[in-house]
Amino acid sequence: MKQIQNIQEGIETVVSKKVMLEIKDLKKAFGNNQVLNGFNLELFEGENLVIMGKSGSGKSVMIKCLVGLMQADSGSIKVMDKDITTLNRMDLDELRTEIGFLFQGSALYDSMTVRENLEFPLRRHKHKFGTITDTTQLVTEALESVGLADAIDLMPAELSGGMKRRVALARTLILKPKIILYDEPTSGLDPITAKEIIELMRRIQRQYKTSSLIITHDVDCARVVSERMILLVDGINYAEGTFEELKASKDEKVKAFFK
Ligand SMILES: Nc1ncnc2c1ncn2[C@@H]1O[C@H](COP(=O)(O)OP(=O)(O)OP(=O)(O)O)[C@@H](O)[C@H]1O
Ligand SMILES: [Mg+2]
Repeated sequence: MKQIQNIQEGIETVVSKKVMLEIKDLKKAFGNNQVLNGFNLELFEGENLVIMGKSGSGKSVMIKCLVGLMQADSGSIKVMDKDITTLNRMDLDELRTEIGFLFQGSALYDSMTVRENLEFPLRRHKHKFGTITDTTQLVTEALESVGLADAIDLMPAELSGGMKRRVALARTLILKPKIILYDEPTSGLDPITAKEIIELMRRIQRQYKTSSLIITHDVDCARVVSERMILLVDGINYAEGTFEELKASKDEKVKAFFK
């Protein structure tokens, strides 16, 4: 829990918010390339936090450290108060079921049907669900929540880009995560399909009350989905605020994002 001062219309209140994710002083370099150089963030329960940063600024590296796909050089990462750098494999695996990760691109398994793609995480995390005799219901439910129940027996090659993104989202939702990490959810999509995905993300947040970290360089996406934003510049959380606050900034590096 964290006490937060909130000043609205001149009235100051203190609210406590549950911290779902906390990154402190994260550093990661590849040789001489110091990608993250003391990055911090807090994600509060139920919020949509957008991270924006230029291409190559380290957004994907940050998210990979967060899910344990990459090891940071230093810093701490806590997921719901548990330090992921000190957990053993089994506890880490269990914690991972609380975090859904929508990869950049869609990363569906091309040789599996949509159904098999969705069954995959269920099988991998058996302990969370016990022995599931009927996966069909869970698969159908997840596909329905992204409006694609009819696609259950199709192969990824038979899907459009937007449909692939939806199936990947369904595969994330099937584990009923408390936190969803989106890496560039709208990249490579045409503006109309991108809008549909954004709408879907908002609906999912309302329906499942998830907390989301959204990485994007799509200004429209940030404007629509973000409650709060962090700009990743020079390896640090360079600026934070609402979309409107950041848009009004006089700082040249911040202004560059909104041109
Ligand atoms: N496995 C790796 N080995 C060496 N360098 C890497 C590796 N992964 C990432 N990098 C470097 O780290 C930097 C940040 O990469 P990252 O993929 O995080 O960028 P990004 O902000 O996600 O960019 P984009 O918006 O294009 O997805 C880049 O300079 C990249 O070359
Ligand atoms: Mg990236």
